[in-house]
This record gives sequence, C-alpha cells and structure tokens, in this order.
Amino acid sequence: MTEKRKLRLGAVIHGVGSSVSAWRHPDIQSDASINISYYQGQARKAEEGKFDFVFIADGLFINEKAIPHFLNRFEPLTLLSSLAAVTSRIGLVGTLSTSYSEPFTVARQFASLDHISGGRAGWNVVTSPGEGAASNFNKGTHPDHSTRYEIAEEYIEVAKGLWDSWEDDAFVRNKESGVFFDPEKLHRLNHKGKHFSVAGPLNIARSKQGQPIVFQAGSSDSGRNLAAKTADAVFTGHETLEEARQFYADVKRRAAEYGRSPDDVLIFPGIGPIVGRTAEEAERKYEETANLGSIEDALQYLGRFFDHHDFSQYPLDEPFPELGELGSNGFRSTTDRIKAKAKELNLTLRQVAIRSTTPRGDFIGTPEQVADRIQEWFEAGAADGFIIGSNAPNGLNDFVELVVPILQQRGIYRDDYESDTLRGNLGLGFPVNRYVKQPAATIESDPELESVKQ
Ligand SMILES: Cc1cc2nc3c(=O)[nH]c(=O)nc-3n(C[C@H](O)[C@H](O)[C@H](O)COP(=O)(O)O)c2cc1C
Repeated sequence: MTEKRKLRLGAVIHGVGSSVSAWRHPDIQSDASINISYYQGQARKAEEGKFDFVFIADGLFINEKAIPHFLNRFEPLTLLSSLAAVTSRIGLVGTLSTSYSEPFTVARQFASLDHISGGRAGWNVVTSPGEGAASNFNKGTHPDHSTRYEIAEEYIEVAKGLWDSWEDDAFVRNKESGVFFDPEKLHRLNHKGKHFSVAGPLNIARSKQGQPIVFQAGSSDSGRNLAAKTADAVFTGHETLEEARQFYADVKRRAAEYGRSPDDVLIFPGIGPIVGRTAEEAERKYEETANLGSIEDALQYLGRFFDHHDFSQYPLDEPFPELGELGSNGFRSTTDRIKAKAKELNLTLRQVAIRSTTPRGDFIGTPEQVADRIQEWFEAGAADGFIIGSNAPNGLNDFVELVVPILQQRGIYRDDYESDTLRGNLGLGFPVNRYVKQPAATIESDPELESVKQ
C-alpha cells in the first residue's frame, strides 16, 4: 500500500497578534512581541505538535499607525538563532527582504542559522511592499513592483550560488597532513548581473540539508513566477477554497513550465483557526477578539495595505470606495483581493475594515469542524500544508492539543518527525552542489553523505 500523502504545518509566531487590538485581551501577554520566553514557549509547543516549522514575519518600516506587534518586535534571524537552541527538530523560517539587504550577508546569515540549528533553516523571501522602507536604507526611492521582483530573482540566484561555494566534503581538516580544505572543492561565484556583482566564495560550508529552504510570500503574477521558478515553498493567503485551489493549480503549473516537478514547490495558505470545545465557544472567542478594537483602529489597519490611505474620510456604511490603482505598488495581491471581494459581496467600508482586522475565516468551530476543513482543503488540491496563525488567545495551544490529534488519527498528519532537517521533513530532495562532477547516483552511495541525505 502506498503511504498516504501527509499534511505539513507551520506556525507563525506573531507576538501580540496581527490585529490592532488583540493585545488588549486579558489572556494575551502584552509584551509578547519582545518576550523571548513567549517565543520559546510557542516554538516548543509547535514542536510538541510535530510542526514542520515556525515562521517569523517581518517588516522594515513603521510609523505611529502600525499595529502593535510591528511597533516593537525582534529581528527574525537573531530570534531564530535563539529558538534553535531550545528546539531540536522543528524548522526555523525567517523573513528577509531582497529589496533592502545584500545577498552575501543574507546568504551567510541563513547558512549560519542552518549550521547552528543542524539543518533546520528557511528563508522567507519578501520584496517589501511598503514605500517607507526606502527611507531607512539610504535609498531615495522604493523600487517599483516589477523591479523588486527582478531584483529578488537575481538575488536568490546569487544566494543559492554562494551556498554552493564549498562542496559538501570540501573541509578535510586533516591534522596530520595539515590539509584543512580541498581547493578543488572551493568555488567562486563571480556573479556579475544587472543588480548585483558578487565574487564569493561564501565563508561558510554547506549545511546538513545542503541549502536553507527558500519560501516566497507574494501572490501577484510576478510573485507566482518567482515562486514557481525558485522557491521550495510558498506562503499565501486565501479566503475561499476555490480561490486557494486556483492558486495552487496555477503555481504548480508554472513550476512545471519552468521544468520543475510540481512537488518541488509546496503551497502553504496561512489560516487563523479559532477552536472551541464547542462551536459556541469558538464563536465567543471570535467575538471577543473582534470586539476589542474600535472602528477607527480597523480603518487604520486597512489603510496600511493601501499606502496608509486615510479611510476615515469615507462614509462607513456605504459601499467600499473606488480606489483606482491605490495599493498596487505595495501589497498588490492583497489589495486586489480586498477590492474584488468588496465588489463581489457588495460590502460597506465598515464590513471590509472589520473583516480585514479580524478575519473570521473558514477555520472556526469545534476541533472536528476545524480538522474537517483542513482535510477538505488538503484533499481538494488547495494546499500541501498550512501556516497556522491564530489571533485568538492560546490559539496555537488549542490547535496542538485539540486539532492535531484528530489529524493524526485520520492518518493525514505525522505522529513523529521523519527527519532532523527541515528539508527532510518537508519531503524535499537534497540539492546536489552545482559543482559536483560525479552523477547523483555516486553521491547517494557515499557513506559520508548518507547521513546528511533525508
Ligand atoms: C501571505 C503573505 C505573507 C507576507 N509576509 C510578509 C512579511 O512578513 N514581510 C514583508 O515585508 N512582506 C510580506 N509579504 C509581502 C510580499 O513579500 C510582497 O512584497 C507583497 O505581497 C507584494 O507582492 P505581491 O503583489 O506579489 O503579493 C507577504 C505577502 C503575503 C501574500
């Protein structure tokens, strides 16, 4: 009998939450976004639930209107290095922008995290939607949407090239002969492209999983192409099963067009499950969170996606205003979706604002109901896994304690980790170093490398 396809799970750890007002809930730790014990506890909880990875989102610009979590939070790689020390199996995925960093530094940072964690690192590539970041990075203007993606593509190519600077067995470290490394197995990249000029080599070896996992978050046409061409996994967001199915099929098709197997790129919609022991309890939890904030807060939150547009100028209970191209140079896929949904469902500004600040989503109810929805999406070809990020207090705990056992009983989720690397758990193949001359079959029989392959 063939093994049943298994669902994968990640957990976004988002301090005080992704809404304006969740921090006010009595059960939410109000300093969670800069409380290392909180993050450690959440990472351990996710590992207890056999999650594939924890996921840290990030941004590079704030103003007074930003949500509380954005105002005061940890830098992802510093945080993940500390989480590496208190976990042993779970993957550690961090967000870093290709628009405001240098590939040599970033390749080195993720390679270091990969070694520190024993092969559990992942990089969420983002292109930075907000215009404001330019003012923090010595840059006059924020590159436009298509240039950001062009930069990102070249950037990833450079980072992957640098990660192959050393063949897996390059470091001989023979004390008797005095040979520290084999110069034949050291490779300079000598990249000269439109946006980057990077000689290499990188000053750190390949890790146990070969290269860190590359995630991509961004769902526009350019974002999908970037994912299909270069990423191992995609973080996305959809309101309905049908939307998610279309996205899934589209990215897999694009991957095939780039000559990759559709299985080489895993699709992870982000969901915010709200689990109650009864359906009423789950509804109560949602209402509690939704009612914590004022409508002014909700308008401000919505404005963030539209270049901090001031929505307070419009009547609240009339149809969502016509905004033209506003928002298209930032969070394009998100703003397109908000505009389309408002039109389709004839929503008022008030309704759009409340939906955006406290999404209710499809994943609310008893543990069985939430498990049913997850299974439905998974089996309908809408997801390879999910990134769980609940705004409800104790959302991750509820999910691990109440929903995970049901998914396990149904045989669609692991009882234990299959591997000790992120790549291995995700079921992705080991990336053979581009400079290795012998065919892959020879590498497979090398006992030195057997231990690193999953
Ligand atoms: C699900 C999802 C998660 C994202 N997470 C981040 C993030 O943590 N930090 C960030 O700067 N941008 C984030 N982005 C923004 C994207 O990287 C991208 O800049 C933006 O969505 C615009 O690209 P698009 O039009 O292709 O979606 C995220 C986007 C999506 C869809």
